[in-house]
Amino acid sequence: YNYSDTIEYLLDWYDLNARILPWRSNPKPYFVWISEIMLQQTRVEAVKAYFERFIKDLPDIKALAEVPEEKLLKLWEGLGYYNRARNLQKAAKHLLEDYDGVMPADYQALLKLPGIGTYTAGAIASIAFQIPEPAVDGNVLRVMKRLANSFDDITSSKVKSTLEQDLREIMPLERPGDFNQAIMELGATVCIPGGKPLCQKCPVVHLCQGYKNKNEMKIPVKPEK
Ligand code: ADE
Repeated sequence: YNYSDTIEYLLDWYDLNARILPWRSNPKPYFVWISEIMLQQTRVEAVKAYFERFIKDLPDIKALAEVPEEKLLKLWEGLGYYNRARNLQKAAKHLLEDYDGVMPADYQALLKLPGIGTYTAGAIASIAFQIPEPAVDGNVLRVMKRLANSFDDITSSKVKSTLEQDLREIMPLERPGDFNQAIMELGATVCIPGGKPLCQKCPVVHLCQGYKNKNEMKIPVKPEK
């Protein structure tokens, strides 16, 4: 599958269709980090209010590192997966000790922080720092596998790391964060999971090999474990 046309169509579509979100209007590394962790378990619409309250109470890495755990968990109440909140604080403490409380503009350094895997490191690097790293989550896997008409098992870590490597080679150097978010946005609003994707609304349907082969509902492949 040749991605280069796809990138241009996706960026043009994103320019017209990107939702206005608090962490997009001001993509400070801290804001991107907090929002991406929240978005891993909760929909965009629900995250907005949690995010606004969280950054109002804990406006920076130092505040997060120093907040009493009880208050932190209270801010997280309703989001679930409380280890994510605990990892945020652990990482904030590391950042305060090792980086003077400043997020490093370095993908490998981000990866070493508690709770930050390849998806989150790529999202922060690309959105906050314009570093051309991919941010591959389940949504991105679904979109890319449909485009490529690929029946790869998207639960396989090899499939994920291969896609990361392939995307790394084609990232648009001028707009890596917008490119990653365009794929996420397409996955959230058009190339949706379950049921029928909204292919008539898709800016790259004419390039989509899954659609062409009538496989859009059969992909992604996710074998029961
Ligand atoms: N889901 C996770 N991260 C996102 C982002 N930055 N934009 C839209 N949807 C997302």
